[in-house]
Amino acid sequence: MKTIIVTVFIGLFIFTSCSITNNGMTEEDKFIEDLLARMNLQEKIGQLNQHTSQWEMTGPAPNAKNTQDLLEDIKNGRVGSMLNVVGAEATLNAQKIAVENSRLGIPLIFGYDVIHGQKTMFPIPLAEAASWNPDLAVLSSSIAAKEAAANGLHWTFAPMVDVGRDARWGRVMEGAGEDAYLTTAFSLARVQGFQGDDLSNENTIAACAKHFAGYAFSESGRDYNVVEIGGESLHNVVLPPFKALAENGVATFMNAFNTIDGMPATASSYLQRDLLKGEWGYDGFVVSDWNSIGEIMIHGAAADLKECAYRAITGGSDMDMEATAYIKYLEELVMEGKVDVKLIDDAVRRILRIKYRLGLFEDPYKYSNTDREKANIYTDEHKSASRKVARESMVLLKNEGNLLPITSSVKSIAVIGPLADDDDSPLGNWRAQAIPNSAVSMLAGIKAAANGIKINYAEGCKLATAGRAFPTHLTINTTDKSGFSAAVNAAKKSELVLLAIGEDAFMSGEGRSQTDITLRGLQQELFDAIYKVNKNIVVVLMNGRPLVIPEIAEKAPAILEAWHGGTEAGHAIADVVFGKYNPSGKLPMTFPLNVGQIPIYYNYKNTGRPDTGNPEDNLWSSYTDAPNTPLYPFGFGLSYTTFEYSDIKVSSSEIAIGETLQVSVNVSNTGTVDGEEVVQLYICDKAATYARPLKELKGFQKVSIKAGGTEHITFKLSDKELGYYFPNGKYVVEPGNFRVYVGGSSEVKHSVNFSLK
Ligand code: BGC
Repeated sequence: MKTIIVTVFIGLFIFTSCSITNNGMTEEDKFIEDLLARMNLQEKIGQLNQHTSQWEMTGPAPNAKNTQDLLEDIKNGRVGSMLNVVGAEATLNAQKIAVENSRLGIPLIFGYDVIHGQKTMFPIPLAEAASWNPDLAVLSSSIAAKEAAANGLHWTFAPMVDVGRDARWGRVMEGAGEDAYLTTAFSLARVQGFQGDDLSNENTIAACAKHFAGYAFSESGRDYNVVEIGGESLHNVVLPPFKALAENGVATFMNAFNTIDGMPATASSYLQRDLLKGEWGYDGFVVSDWNSIGEIMIHGAAADLKECAYRAITGGSDMDMEATAYIKYLEELVMEGKVDVKLIDDAVRRILRIKYRLGLFEDPYKYSNTDREKANIYTDEHKSASRKVARESMVLLKNEGNLLPITSSVKSIAVIGPLADDDDSPLGNWRAQAIPNSAVSMLAGIKAAANGIKINYAEGCKLATAGRAFPTHLTINTTDKSGFSAAVNAAKKSELVLLAIGEDAFMSGEGRSQTDITLRGLQQELFDAIYKVNKNIVVVLMNGRPLVIPEIAEKAPAILEAWHGGTEAGHAIADVVFGKYNPSGKLPMTFPLNVGQIPIYYNYKNTGRPDTGNPEDNLWSSYTDAPNTPLYPFGFGLSYTTFEYSDIKVSSSEIAIGETLQVSVNVSNTGTVDGEEVVQLYICDKAATYARPLKELKGFQKVSIKAGGTEHITFKLSDKELGYYFPNGKYVVEPGNFRVYVGGSSEVKHSVNFSLK
């Protein structure tokens, strides 16, 4: 057996410089204190000020500056950081202005949204989580970091660690899905990949845990909307990945646009001061989200920008992204005695600390190296890593009659669909420096692997007709069916159809909330037209969020969830459909049966009147027009082989608090090909002070098992997994009876009981 998962829960990337000076301070502290002592108030406030370059914007520019003003500000020490300055030369030039012209020569820190790759695009983060292999996230993030660092960048605004249960919210594509445990594993892996074990290494960059906190719970899935969340869900669902990253050395945090129970997250001293910098002992800095300091006023929680500045700095936001509130008003607030200069000093120390750890004081230009930029970006090695990640991220949702993998007897394939020859959408949204239209389309990938098979291509219909860019409104084709007949003909003359449908890259991501997550435009109609003439359809889904596809799920014999798979998507799809790679992904997010079920997630609580499954039973927690169950559950995914679970055992039927329980199971590959299985462990705390979910993921291992082979898998459970947070944030481990399940999806039935004394 090859155990693919290397546990990422061990904290391994703390960067504190430990060398101690004569007076008991670390070298790092001494450096920072010396510098701080030389800074005047304006220079300190300058460090808290972040500006975008003028050429790339990811939000409305409330206080757009002209370039000349910006340059003057940098020279005068009024800017501590910039975002969206990219390229060895551009960063070098901007850095020179700060270092050579400002009084103290403090280097800028350059940030950028490197979400799933810099130029070599990896699958979107949601897809990558579907691999259930955090080692892949280490790999992709380390390559993204290497490319970003070669582009002169120091810092990525990633990973997004928001646990998302609402597929209407377009930003679920940026996270690791609906579960806190899986999200924590992937978030730690991503930070490890970005930061490595030495932040000052020229191939690593600082990471950023975002958006702190609750953003994915935006009411009704509408982006930027209010968040109402009780303490129990906040502490058990939303906060665990943030806490894990804070405790394991993530360099920075970003706060969030939303209010949380009425309090703008950006002004929340409970989140930023009491929890993050207090209880969790965090020593990095918090950057605001884009103008989220200015938006405090728009929420209705400050009268003007000055009060925004007051609320944000007292709330614990260290750096102001694009609101210009700090640079305009902090000095005044200090002079008026409203803001204690100690708060400013604390924020400055945190920012200088990360600059120090990046090595910027030793060499402010070290990241801006044009030779490295030429050598380290978009290499063949990076592309082949992307292909590896992409194929392992795919989830086989249905495979009736073993239509996949395509056998050598198949002599003709119709490749159809608006996304079939799309070489841009696989790059996904939040695509950093990806070259437009640089992905391997599914058609190109299939052709390259076809080996004599006749390929009949037809687009069928267009999906998006205009507005394909980050900030613009996308227009969907709802009328032009002129390509249908060619598609139907291609399907008629082929033995099998590969139909690529789903979402354009710009249908998910920031500002891409939808009330309807069924197939948009003419895609369902296209499927229906093809289905009439050829039922051998393999639907290849490309999308950034779970979709509602009940009709496809019923009719199509095979469905492969390929997501937005990155630069090498087409080759990776070919690897899977031709059986070169046996699919092993599992859904990181539930696929609803209809939009009305949202929010829908596997770790729900029983209610006092659990669904009986009988539609006649009205006074139970169910719908009168649809079942409670989803189309595809969390953790679900098929393989070209089959796995059987047997002999689930616990090392003892009773353990004491503080002891460790061992849970074991045998997993057999009962098919004829080798395969990988994601073995998932869920617990249920049957009677606790606060009602607990019926199932909670508390462990997983991805294992490869030879055809006919059996592997003995063991897990450990102790207080860390068996306790939970009270709504007030206190972690408790309560005695009582537990059930533990081990299987291949969240719908696992195999279980065993034990009690905790
Ligand atoms: C997003 C952040 C992003 C920032 C900078 C905002 O609109 O919410 O996630 O990092 O822009 O681009």
